[in-house]
Amino acid sequence: MSESLPWKVVWVTGASSGIGQEVVRQLAAQNIKVAASSRKGWLEPLPANVMNLPLDVTDAIAVEDCIARIEKELGPIDLAVLGAGAYQPFELSTCDAAEFARINSTNYLGVTNCVAPLLRRMVARRAGHISWIASVAGYNGLPKASYYGPTKAALINLAESLWHEAKPKGVAISVINPGFVETPMTKANDFPMPFLMKPSRAATLTIRGLARKQFEIAYPLPFVLILKFLQKLPLSLKLWIIGFSAGT
Ligand SMILES: NC(=O)c1ccc[n+]([C@@H]2O[C@H](COP(=O)([O-])OP(=O)(O)OC[C@H]3O[C@@H](n4cnc5c(N)ncnc54)[C@H](OP(=O)(O)O)[C@@H]3O)[C@@H](O)[C@H]2O)c1
Repeated sequence: MSESLPWKVVWVTGASSGIGQEVVRQLAAQNIKVAASSRKGWLEPLPANVMNLPLDVTDAIAVEDCIARIEKELGPIDLAVLGAGAYQPFELSTCDAAEFARINSTNYLGVTNCVAPLLRRMVARRAGHISWIASVAGYNGLPKASYYGPTKAALINLAESLWHEAKPKGVAISVINPGFVETPMTKANDFPMPFLMKPSRAATLTIRGLARKQFEIAYPLPFVLILKFLQKLPLSLKLWIIGFSAGT
C-alpha cells in the first residue's frame, strides 16, 4: 500500500474470514492497531497489532461493552469497518420468516447496533469515520437474494441518510459495495459469479477508498457500472433483463 493511512485505531467486524480478515491483515501490516471482532474470534495465529475481541453484533449490549473496551485499551476508534454479514440463498419452497429475521438482524441491525454507540462517541469528539459493507446486491432486486438483498439496500439507504447528520458533526460515513468476492460466503453459490475477485484485492480497494474518505467504495468497476445502469431503467425493463440474464 503506497498511501500513508490516517488511522491509529481501527475496529473491524466480520474479521474471522473473507474481506474483513484481509482488511485486518493489511491494516495491521501498516502498524495500525486493529481490534478484530466476529463470533468465533480470530482463529489463526494473531498478527502483531491485532486485538482479538469475539463479539456477536446482534447483541447490542455486548457491542457497547466491546467498543468501550477497545477505546479503554487501544484509544479512540478512528475508523470502524463493519463487515459482519450473513447470506442464505432464497428458496421459495423453504421460505421462512425466521430466516428473513436472522439475516436482517445480522446484516442491518448488526450494523445499527454498532453505529449508534460509535456515533455518540465520535460526535462528542467531533472526529471519526464509520463504514459498513453493504453490497452491489443492494442496488437492484436479484434472483435468490430475497433474504439478503433488502438488508444491503437498507444499508445503502442508511449511509445516504446518516451522512447528512454526521458530516456537520465531523464524522465521516462510507458505504462499501463489493461485487462477488471469493470468500466462505460465496463458496456455496451454484451459479456463475461474474467478475469474481480475491478478498485481498477487495480489502486493498476498501482501504484505499476509506483513506480517501470516499462516500461509496464500489468494485469491480465494470460490474458496478452495469448494475448502476440497470438501476436507471424503467422497472419492467430492468426485471426482464435481470430475469433473462439469470434464466428465471
Ligand atoms: N463475498 C461477497 O461476494 C460479498 C459481496 C458483497 C458484500 N459482501 C459483504 O461483505 C461482508 C463480508 O463478507 P465475506 O464475503 O467476507 O464473508 P465471510 O467470509 O462469510 O465473512 C463474514 C464474517 O461475518 C462474521 N459474522 C457473521 N455473523 C456475525 C455476527 N452475528 N456477529 C459478528 N460477526 C458475524 C463471520 O464470522 P463468525 O462466523 O465468526 O461470526 C465472518 O467473519 C458481509 O457483510 C457480506 O455481506 C460480500
